[in-house]
Amino acid sequence: MKILGIESSCDETAASVCIDGRTILSNVVASQIDEHRLYGGVVPEIASRRHAENISWVVKESLLEANCTLDAIDAIAVTYAPGLIGALLVGISFAKGLAMSANKPLIPVHHIAGHICANYITHPDLEPPYLCLVISGGHTHIIEVLDYTHYHVVGRTRDDAAGECFDKVARTLGYEYPGGKHIDNTAKTGNPDAFKLPKPQITDSEYDFSFSGLKTSVINTVHNAEQKGEAISSNDMAASFQAIVAKTLTERTIKAAKALGYKKIAAAGGVSANSGVRAELERACAECGFELYLPELKYCGDNAAMIACQGYFDYLNGKRADESLNAIATLSLDKLCN
Ligand code: KG4
Ligand code: ZN
Repeated sequence: MKILGIESSCDETAASVCIDGRTILSNVVASQIDEHRLYGGVVPEIASRRHAENISWVVKESLLEANCTLDAIDAIAVTYAPGLIGALLVGISFAKGLAMSANKPLIPVHHIAGHICANYITHPDLEPPYLCLVISGGHTHIIEVLDYTHYHVVGRTRDDAAGECFDKVARTLGYEYPGGKHIDNTAKTGNPDAFKLPKPQITDSEYDFSFSGLKTSVINTVHNAEQKGEAISSNDMAASFQAIVAKTLTERTIKAAKALGYKKIAAAGGVSANSGVRAELERACAECGFELYLPELKYCGDNAAMIACQGYFDYLNGKRADESLNAIATLSLDKLCN
């Protein structure tokens, strides 16, 4: 079954054709990052305008790359939540028009379900149930993936998402938005023990996260040094920060896996591209005898291949949308119906 997936929840206009939820025929991503970088973050109005300009050619290109006509597509999947409303609406409206005019079923896909699904592309052998650590610019969740379309959120961040924290620390160290990748690169030549940063603690929940204290500590350390005219090694700070984030994410995920009886662990979202996080998860999973599944780097960040694939599983589960489909800015994965 061939699904055309469309993604426009943030700053990437993307389209992809996928067969049976696992095989990618095309994966086109038009990134707007160069423009948003000028403002230090995503400007919602600019994002919507660029999506409107790019969506037609991105979808056309994805069909062309897949060597496939619209006629040959069985259904159209589109991200409807969560994300920037104006950005989501561009993809939704386009998908609705296409589905109506070509008389194809329309499937609404949750963006985070898509991120999780990226693992099925990279690992044909992976099947639920398993535990997934979702770490993106807007989300930090530990999720029980009960089957291909049902989830239970076990833990979540109380404040900043992991990616948000990476980006803010990167900005403090003078790197451009989005800075997660820069921290990753810089950390490679830094000493992770150079700075004693506070380990993020949540006392009333075993699986929730809080990153704002750690972020503030980095910002204060850097600013205090600046005021005293002291030089701080960005490499050492990036390495110290990344090590503590990787440790915190991994420790809580492993703890949840042990308590809930999972031996299969996956990671998903933009921050799952981080080499320190991947290494720490690999180390801990090997130590515990757990199977670890990580998405290929090109499927960690936002893309439509993950939406097309998840669309297939949602389709099998009977999920359909009609012309009343609307965008939802915030929607927890375990609040999905069906
Ligand atoms: O999943 P994603 O592409 O978009 C959202 O759904 O939010 O995640 C974007 C986030 C950004 O905060 C970005 O800095 C971060 O993922 N990111 C990284 C790395 N690559 C992207 N963070 C740390 N290390 C990386 N290598
Ligand atoms: Zn995302």
